[in-house]
Amino acid sequence: RIVSTPQGIAAMSMICTHLGCIVGETADGFQCPCHGSVFDLQGRVVSGPAPRPLRWLEVSQTVDGTLLVNSAKEVNAGVFYQPLESRKS
Ligand code: FES
Repeated sequence: RIVSTPQGIAAMSMICTHLGCIVGETADGFQCPCHGSVFDLQGRVVSGPAPRPLRWLEVSQTVDGTLLVNSAKEVNAGVFYQPLESRKS
């Protein structure tokens, strides 16, 4: 899931950290349909059995402005990427 805020852009994995099901969005965050884990909007575990928060993934940008999400590289929760256009001001 891509999140765009005034702080920048972030990508959060929708793969449940329990056994890998795809979580669904709720009004308050995310819920896993398989065993009921609940995550808040930042991906933190509200209730298990998920053992870890949802993963935040590295976001970068090519020279032509295309945004890239590196699903193999995790970043700390709360790390937002600043798009190149927003750095010019
Ligand atoms: Fe998500 Fe089990 S796979 S709670």
